[in-house]
Amino acid sequence: MRTLDDLDVKGRRVLVRADLNVPLDGETITDDGRIRASVPTIKTLVERGAQVVVCAHLGRPKGKADPKYSLRPVAARLGELLGQDVAFATDVVGDSARSTVEALQDGQVVLLENLRYEPGEESKDDAVRGEFAAKLAGLAELYVGDGFGAVHRKHASVYDVPRLLPHAAGGLVVAEVEVLRRLTEDTERPYVVVLGGAKVSDKLGVIANLLTKVDRLLIGGGMAYTFLKAQGHEVGNSLLQEDQLDEVRGFLDKAEQRGVELVLPVDVLAAVTFAADADHDVVEATAIPADREGLDIGPRTRELFASKLADARTVFWNGPMGVFEFDAFSGGTRAVAQALIDSGAFTVVGGGDSAAAVRKLGLPEDGFSHISTGGGASLEYLEGKTLPGLAALED
Ligand code: 3PG
Ligand code: MG
Repeated sequence: MRTLDDLDVKGRRVLVRADLNVPLDGETITDDGRIRASVPTIKTLVERGAQVVVCAHLGRPKGKADPKYSLRPVAARLGELLGQDVAFATDVVGDSARSTVEALQDGQVVLLENLRYEPGEESKDDAVRGEFAAKLAGLAELYVGDGFGAVHRKHASVYDVPRLLPHAAGGLVVAEVEVLRRLTEDTERPYVVVLGGAKVSDKLGVIANLLTKVDRLLIGGGMAYTFLKAQGHEVGNSLLQEDQLDEVRGFLDKAEQRGVELVLPVDVLAAVTFAADADHDVVEATAIPADREGLDIGPRTRELFASKLADARTVFWNGPMGVFEFDAFSGGTRAVAQALIDSGAFTVVGGGDSAAAVRKLGLPEDGFSHISTGGGASLEYLEGKTLPGLAALED
C-alpha cells in the first residue's frame, strides 16, 4: 500500500475519505473519537501545502438530504481540533462543493456534506456508483483513503474513487491494518478474544474463523444467552436468537474438537425489566428465572473472565458485556476492560460500542495498545474477508 510519503501533495487538491461517523445528540457530538483519529492525516496534508477536501458519511440517510445527518457540526469540531477554519460545503458534488473547493488555498481544508445524501454513494449498481464516483473524483487530483471504519463498504467514495485517481492510504488506515496483521499473523500466545454485544448473528463469520486461531474465546453480552440456551439452559426473557441455535451448537462442537477454550458466563445480573433502575439479582447462568432477563455478567463471571485474561499475550475485545449505558449494568464491561488493561498483553479494542464504552466509563484510553475506529471493519478483517476499501488502495 502506498502511504502519504509516496504522494507529492504540495499545491495539489487532495480528496481524503475519512470516517467521521460520530454519535450526535441533536447537534452535539457525544463522542469525537473518530474526528480526533482523523486529524493526523489531515494535519500532515495541511503542513505539506495540500488543498484538502475531506469527504465522509454520517449515519444512514439513505440517499436523501436530511438535516438530522448533516456533517456541519463535525466541520466545526474538526476545525477546533486542527486549530484552523474548516470550510463547509452544503452539498456533496453540487454548486456549493465546486465553489468551496475552487476557493481553497494551499494548506486550507474543506469538508463536504454527508456522502450518503447522494444515492450513488451506496448504490449496488456499478454504473450508478461509478457516475457519482466520477463527480467526486472531479473535485480533486489525488485521493487518500483514511476512513478505516468504512473500508468494509463497497461504496463509491471508498471503492470506486481510488480507481480514478492516484491514491495512497492515510496514516489511520496504515496503523489500523498493522494492528490487525498482528492479530492474524504470528500472533503471540495465549491469544484470547472477548466477544459481546447483542446479536450472535452479527458475529457468526468472525467466530467461525477465530475458532481456528485463538486459544480462548470468552463470550458475554446479549449474545451469550443464545450460547447458554444452546447448551440446554433456560434463559428467561433474556435476548435470544432462536434461529441461531443450530449454528451456535456447531461452534460449541468445533471449539471442543479444536481444543479452543470457550468460556461462557456462570452468573448474570437478572432484571425484572429492561430499565436503568430495574430491580435485579445475581443468579446462576444456568438458572435464570422465567420472568427475568440478563442485563450484565455477574461478579463470579467477571472474576472468571479476568483470570482467563491475566496470562494472555494478545487480546482482541469487541462488544460490551452488558447494558453499559445503564450504570447498574455497566460493571461487567468495566471489569473486562480493566482486565485487559491489567493483563499487560497487546490489547486491541475493536471499535463500535466497546470503544464508546471505554470512553463513557472513563477508562484511560492509553491503557490499551490500540482502540480501533472500526467495529464492523475490524470484525470483517478478522473474519478473513477482502475489504473493498483496502483492496482498492492496494491496486
Ligand atoms: C460505522 O459506524 O461502523 C462506520 O462508520 C460505517 O458505518 P455503516 O455501518 O453505517 O456503514
Ligand atoms: Mg457500523
